[in-house]
Amino acid sequence: MNDSKRWWEETVVYQVYPRSFLDSNGDGIGDLEGLISRLDYLADLGVETLWISPFYRSPQCDFGYDISDYRDVAPEYGNLATVDRLVSEAHARGLRIVLDMVLNHTSDQHPWFLASRASRSDPRRGWYVWRHGRGDGGKRPPNNWHAMIGGSGWHRDGPSGEWYWAQFLPFQPDLNYRNPAVQAEMLDTMRFWLDRGVDGFRLDIVNALFEDADFRDNPSSWKLLPSDDDPSMLFQASSNTLNHPDTLAFMKELRRCVDRYDHPSRFLVGEVNAAIDQARAHCGDLRPGTADTAPGTDGLNLVFLFRSVTAPLVAGTMRSLMADYEEHFPRPLLPTWVFSNHDRLRRISRLGGDLRRAKLNTAWQLTARGVPFIYYGEEIGMLQQRLPLKTALDPIAHRFPLPQWVADLVRNRFKESLNRDECRTPMQWDESPNAGFCPPGITPWLPTPHNLDGRTVQRQRSDPESLFSCYRRFLRLRREHPALRRGDLEMLPESSTGRHIVGYRRKDPSETLVVLLNASGSHRTLPSPVAGHVIVGTAAARPAGAEGPVTTLAPWEGVVLHERP
Ligand code: GLC
Repeated sequence: MNDSKRWWEETVVYQVYPRSFLDSNGDGIGDLEGLISRLDYLADLGVETLWISPFYRSPQCDFGYDISDYRDVAPEYGNLATVDRLVSEAHARGLRIVLDMVLNHTSDQHPWFLASRASRSDPRRGWYVWRHGRGDGGKRPPNNWHAMIGGSGWHRDGPSGEWYWAQFLPFQPDLNYRNPAVQAEMLDTMRFWLDRGVDGFRLDIVNALFEDADFRDNPSSWKLLPSDDDPSMLFQASSNTLNHPDTLAFMKELRRCVDRYDHPSRFLVGEVNAAIDQARAHCGDLRPGTADTAPGTDGLNLVFLFRSVTAPLVAGTMRSLMADYEEHFPRPLLPTWVFSNHDRLRRISRLGGDLRRAKLNTAWQLTARGVPFIYYGEEIGMLQQRLPLKTALDPIAHRFPLPQWVADLVRNRFKESLNRDECRTPMQWDESPNAGFCPPGITPWLPTPHNLDGRTVQRQRSDPESLFSCYRRFLRLRREHPALRRGDLEMLPESSTGRHIVGYRRKDPSETLVVLLNASGSHRTLPSPVAGHVIVGTAAARPAGAEGPVTTLAPWEGVVLHERP
């Protein structure tokens, strides 16, 4: 295990969606015991940190992102003893464990909310955001605020006639972070898990914790739909509901909470759907190094950057994305590299299912400066499935009643999915019925595809030219080369690579590596050969040029060279 103080800067994270990873008890639902049984697989793949989507007690209306007890485990996943074993078994293999913490809201079934809604005088009333409505009898929402997913985020509660605020779905009421008791409770919850040995947290929609204290309307905007750069939508900006200055200040409180843990140190990565400078702001202010610490920041250690999710695999776009990340996240900051997760269309399906392009994407993700996040199944090219909107289990699919043709249009035109079940289907372990996720004869919670098309661990593990083997090679490379783990990044100018090849150096005092990525479906010749020898490539067996200088790259080929001066 990398025990350096800032191990999290050098790690590679793998996201496990526990419901879909491995079902150990034959109920069709993945569980923590299943995950424990595959820790050897993950260690062998070469990832270093596991982020596990929520497994706490929950009515599962949003599959765990609606928590009803933060200090217990949903019975379908295991119990506290299983978590303890997961942590120790993972640590024994050099893997770290990061939990998903949903600070912004609870389930409406959480005893706190049940008490809060039961009476205006209950001490828990002030734990949530309650307001009188406007107009005659308070029948209109208190202000114009939209939820993050569109539509008013205010919901009227029958008995008291007041409205509660929910940034996400109506059954996920927002906690009131202006109440010190809420802050204290949630920090204590984090300590509860840190004391059990977890290595950090992924913080769910953490830029939504505070809203404007005076409940002023959000200003209007011209934007109809949100993007990875701007959450404004339906002609409304979110300046009074997202990225509030008080939220930024609270990030420092969260950081102080994890920084009290030292052996080993812990870290926070935030889900911040915002423009890159606002995402950056959640990392706090620069803080100088001391005798035994390097310089850092005093807010979140990392934030997800989502522009990569939709970025086409085109050299110009890749270069400008990297330049932007370097500009906004220079040392001591670090960008993150995210291509898929449990909310978005799987990256490989944006790449037309093409395994060659997926390998190039892998080479890019694992050699750029920053912390990579791999989503389960990404390593075998698991595809986004097509599932009908009507029977979706994902509540987002039913938020607005839309016909299937709209979902198809959104998928084909905008490469987005309105049904998150499609990217959450069971991990494809082998060729047996149910893909080895659960025993044959059991119905898994979401279906596996009829044609697995070789996209299984079993098929790819022994094939050196598979996507899986490509991941494993690059992960090993990263582990062995400090230049990739913590080196500087220097882009090669287009004049030295040609228009279709992205080139960069990764430099550490001990070595310099050069990465060349051919983002095109044709052979490309470099304007002048790059001296050095190839140490790893997207192809296991590089037909030519492994020994000498690189002059040509095959379609969608990526290579890493040891530079010879
Ligand atoms: C985040 C999660 C998503 C969840 C939502 C509400 O965006 O990634 O899955 O539904 O927050 O908690």
